[in-house]
Amino acid sequence: MIDIHCHILAEVDDGPRSFEDSTEMCRLAAADGIEHIVATPHANERYHYDRDYLDGLLVHLRKSVGPVPRLTLGCDLHFSYDNFLAVMALPQRYTIEGGRYLLVELNNYSIPVQVDECFTQLRTKGVHPIITHPERNPILQQNPLRVLQWIDLGCAVQVTGSALTGGWGERAWHAAQWLLKRNAVHIIASDAHDLVRRRPGLSSAREAAAEVCGEDVAHALVDANPRAVVDGQSLPYFPAPLAKI
Ligand SMILES: [Fe+2]
Repeated sequence: MIDIHCHILAEVDDGPRSFEDSTEMCRLAAADGIEHIVATPHANERYHYDRDYLDGLLVHLRKSVGPVPRLTLGCDLHFSYDNFLAVMALPQRYTIEGGRYLLVELNNYSIPVQVDECFTQLRTKGVHPIITHPERNPILQQNPLRVLQWIDLGCAVQVTGSALTGGWGERAWHAAQWLLKRNAVHIIASDAHDLVRRRPGLSSAREAAAEVCGEDVAHALVDANPRAVVDGQSLPYFPAPLAKI
């Protein structure tokens, strides 16, 4: 399995507090069957994102962790107009491994109407947005059809593994089920932050997804699709969402 959204680097955001915790999180992930983690520190008003500095931290962590899990760099980009302009100016500073895929987190309290236009512009620039954890966003819990519209614009959707197993409460669980049943989930990621509450791991979520949509789709969500993301390829599982069920 491959985890494309994980706060594995220490002391750069609200992820692990120490290098030792980062290393232990990698061990937990490997024990769960994760072969590759994309380190995705926040880029938002609270946490400055400095790609070169983060790259240096990753080199250091790789030395401690060894070959498994493989560690590469991405970004948990909070959607704002400033961040949108920064990505348009230099996409490879924010995309996963400098390739075509970009994690985009939408604000919990307001989603600007211009977001559709911004997604379209990103696609024109060759950037594929991956919308992170819409199942945890109160606005999208109320109006999940918006997520389906963004898929029509070419965006992919990532849900949180622990939302599928109930760790984010009923609303997030229902929203994740709603999306899964409509073929509107493309990737499951951990969004892990620590060793206690938001731990690494994808195997439980994979089992939960398989109960809803079968083993083949569950495999695509934790393996084939995230593998295509880190390889910079088109997603092998990207069906048209089922709007009318
Ligand atoms: Fe995150």
